Amino acid sequence: MTQLEHDILDNLAHPILVIGDAAQIVYANGASELFFGASQARLINAPFAEFVPFGTPLLALVEQVQHRGGSISEYGVRLGTPRTGHALVDVQASRMTPSGANKSERHVLVMLQERSIATAMDRQLTHRGAARSVTAMAAMLAHEIKNPLSGIRGAAQLLELDSPPESRELTRLIMDEADRIVKLVDRMEVFSNERPIEREPVNIHEVLNHVRRLSEAGFGSKVKFVENYDPSLPPVMGERDQLIQVMLNLIKNACEAVPEQGGLVTLSTSYRHGVKIKVPGSQESLSLPLEVCVMDNGPGVPDELRPNLFDPFVTTKPKGQGLGLAMVAKIVGDHGGVIECESEPGQTVFRVFLPVSAK
Ligand SMILES: Nc1ncnc2c1ncn2[C@@H]1O[C@H](COP(=O)(O)OP(=O)(O)O)[C@@H](O)[C@H]1O
Ligand SMILES: [Mg+2]
Repeated sequence: MTQLEHDILDNLAHPILVIGDAAQIVYANGASELFFGASQARLINAPFAEFVPFGTPLLALVEQVQHRGGSISEYGVRLGTPRTGHALVDVQASRMTPSGANKSERHVLVMLQERSIATAMDRQLTHRGAARSVTAMAAMLAHEIKNPLSGIRGAAQLLELDSPPESRELTRLIMDEADRIVKLVDRMEVFSNERPIEREPVNIHEVLNHVRRLSEAGFGSKVKFVENYDPSLPPVMGERDQLIQVMLNLIKNACEAVPEQGGLVTLSTSYRHGVKIKVPGSQESLSLPLEVCVMDNGPGVPDELRPNLFDPFVTTKPKGQGLGLAMVAKIVGDHGGVIECESEPGQTVFRVFLPVSAK
């Protein structure tokens, strides 16, 4: 392999491995080291089975390709490793014939693609868009609706003064409804806030603890909280109050989703070296290594909601406003981060990826 080829493989974001005849690892690129949490020296020549969960379909897949040849893809394989936790990956395995001395051996090239990275890239585009449209809409509402409304309300008030008592009910109605719409617009106004965030180093664990205590004193009093923090996590450059708002909205949703009995909300943080995301309109890819997860054991996000989950006014709750996640998407976007959701019955995870520090 030339140096260039070597560099290309080592810089790919996805783990690539070559598995030999005896199911041993023959080659592992740089991303594999991160994925499996082991150095290349440790990986190479070691049995592949040592690094994947016991009984994973991946081993059978590799064997099948080894014997039958061709190429097989398998989507959504769970490959939990100590480092990655519950990694969900798409796998592509194809047979390759090594050159040189071991020509007679049958090697299998395995490429893993982490789901969270792929979905995060997707989300990036949609949620940024959603946040933008909310901002524009909120600004529009404030100007185009609030001002004329106060005129309408004032006119109704004047009419009330010299109208017969039987009409007063109608002028009251106009005023009450005008007030109601103003309140609604006021709630939207948080979105039109274009003020740049005031960044300072924020300890996200302190934020999580604060929100957990708030929750335990109120809506989360029956929920069991589990904390799983990476103590080496560097501070987030952000605005503390806004980050509290993000965690509060996510944790409140989690508490509202969990079953009455045995409700469980897990808060976790980790430092992910590999997460890089390409932003549209910019050459560089963002490094978003700080990951904060809020996980619950509720029934999951309803399928029909998923495409618009982060849009405003999307709710399934009788008294819900559907502004919580829209707010979360806006704040995370303002911080240069990304949010994604992975949900199945019994396990819903909202993942927030944040930059370590930003200009
Ligand atoms: N952890 C979760 N589990 C299941 N569904 C969720 C979760 N978080 C959010 N949702 C769904 O997304 C919707 C929108 O959430 P949100 O924007 O916070 O508004 P609200 O909580 O007012 O309904 C919720 O009504 C719910 O259907
Ligand atoms: Mg909510």
